[in-house]
Amino acid sequence: MSIVLKTDVEGIRLVGRGKVRDIYEIKGYYLIVTTDRISAFDVILPNGIPNKGYVLTQLSKFWFEKTAAIVDNHLITTDIGEMPDICKKYRDILEGRSMLVKKAESLPVECVVRGYLAGSGWKDYQKTGCICDIKLEKGLVKSQKLSTPIFTPATKAELGKHDENIGFDHVKNMIGKETASKIYKYSMDIYNMASNLAEKKDIIIADTKMEFGIVNNEIILIDEVLTPDSSRFWYKNSYKLGEEQESMDKQFVRNYLETLDWDKTAPGPTLPADIVHQTSKRYMEIMETIIN
Ligand SMILES: Nc1ncnc2c1ncn2[C@@H]1O[C@H](COP(=O)(O)OP(=O)(O)OP(=O)(O)O)[C@@H](O)[C@H]1O
Ligand SMILES: [Mg+2]
Repeated sequence: MSIVLKTDVEGIRLVGRGKVRDIYEIKGYYLIVTTDRISAFDVILPNGIPNKGYVLTQLSKFWFEKTAAIVDNHLITTDIGEMPDICKKYRDILEGRSMLVKKAESLPVECVVRGYLAGSGWKDYQKTGCICDIKLEKGLVKSQKLSTPIFTPATKAELGKHDENIGFDHVKNMIGKETASKIYKYSMDIYNMASNLAEKKDIIIADTKMEFGIVNNEIILIDEVLTPDSSRFWYKNSYKLGEEQESMDKQFVRNYLETLDWDKTAPGPTLPADIVHQTSKRYMEIMETIIN
């Protein structure tokens, strides 16, 4: 499969391009095409990662099926044969990386659930002893498993800005108490179900980020779910308390970028071939381990 950095599907209206996805509108639905673009620290990097769009689409599809018992989701089909006719003409570009979905009004909250201390959670804990407004016990170390998973929402930042951790009261003020309570419960239930399932395959899901939207007054799960772009995946067998973990996800790229003298503004640096190759390998490996 060739690397797809950008799609141009003529005859279908392009709604916009995210950092990773090209979004089209077709007959009242969205066609979400996941490219091989990779963003880190909210900057799109020049390289594509081979098979990345495929991996994110297949993993999301897998998890949308598993999470459907908890909450409905936006996915209609990933099968080009079941999409409107015009999509069939572009099978070469779309196959394996596209989802026809329900158009939702997305809620402005990134629903993050953490089972382990990593990333911005670990940073905030070191500074304040808290993540969002949740006070954690003293003396925890890097990568430590929390006594119970926690919901640590963030704002969904506009282009060029970074997400910011917020307290649950802030979420309630933004979207209302009832909707806030529902997305809290859905997020926690999804994390618990998924981490139990992953555990059986010797994978730790350290944390993950979800998005919800509203369709016909109902809350549904949208975007992507439990992928290596949105989650931290660690191997149980190589887990080391107190240390940075070997990451099977985008953290691998962030770790490389941290070795550079880059100020994290656009344009991002070009990744060396070896980092691209290893990232692709890790994405494929986590997909195969989870799906099989
Ligand atoms: N069913 C849906 N209805 C409406 N919007 C959706 C739906 N599914 C996903 N989206 C939105 O489409 C966009 C997906 O594009 P993409 O993931 O490339 O954007 P991004 O969030 O800017 O990038 P990144 O994932 O790197 O943060 C997100 O803004 C997401 O909220
Ligand atoms: Mg996204």
